[in-house]
Amino acid sequence: MIVGLLNQKGGVGKTTLAVNIAASLARSGDRVLLIDADPQGSSLDWAAAREVEPLFSVVGLPRATIHKEIGALGRDYDHIIIDGPPRVTDLARSAIMAADMVLVPVQPSPYDIWAADEVVKLIEEARVYKDSLAAAFVVNRKIANTAIGRDVGEALAGYSLPTLAATITQRVIFAEAAARGLAVHELEPNGPATAEIEAVTAELKEYR
Ligand SMILES: Nc1ncnc2c1ncn2[C@@H]1O[C@H](COP(=O)(O)OP(=O)(O)O)[C@@H](O)[C@H]1O
Ligand SMILES: [Mg+2]
Repeated sequence: MIVGLLNQKGGVGKTTLAVNIAASLARSGDRVLLIDADPQGSSLDWAAAREVEPLFSVVGLPRATIHKEIGALGRDYDHIIIDGPPRVTDLARSAIMAADMVLVPVQPSPYDIWAADEVVKLIEEARVYKDSLAAAFVVNRKIANTAIGRDVGEALAGYSLPTLAATITQRVIFAEAAARGLAVHELEPNGPATAEIEAVTAELKEYR
């Protein structure tokens, strides 16, 4: 599958989810390519911080030609994850057109939920050309047992995209792992962050 992590808002978890979903797919033995489509190159930074053997390949491609190049680039891989850019540009459009599934991370804050209308519009535009395009929200940085955490699902229900049942909680291990170029499963294979990532990955696989 080709999954694009898209949201023009920065800091919502595109890179965090991209590397951990890629790692989770690679963990089950599949060949995975992570395309860093963000000019800031955070996924490339993640790979550079890593001191142990790579789990999957990472390439930087911050150009609006991803949808044209993905066929040749992805030939030897079972799955491709695209870490999207933090703006609505031709680059974001290209990343969406390259994907068969767009995953939109959103934090449980009203600002994030309102801001999602831009990326939803982009996805709807892309569907004019590609009606097979799947898309869903995934709630990231959920804070356990808060009202806002519970209400976010309801707020997102106003959009045309579904929301994954699996959610990702705010956990310091995501930042700790990122600093060392690791996936959360490498630090805590049986921990709750790993279980949440595995649940998101399993749900994505159902969309195929
Ligand atoms: N679930 C989470 N728990 C804790 N920190 C998180 C979580 N998701 C993301 N972060 C942190 O938030 C910051 C922004 O995340 P990032 O993945 O870089 O967002 P984006 O790629 O959308 O800009 C990073 O410092 C990252 O470590
Ligand atoms: Mg990023």
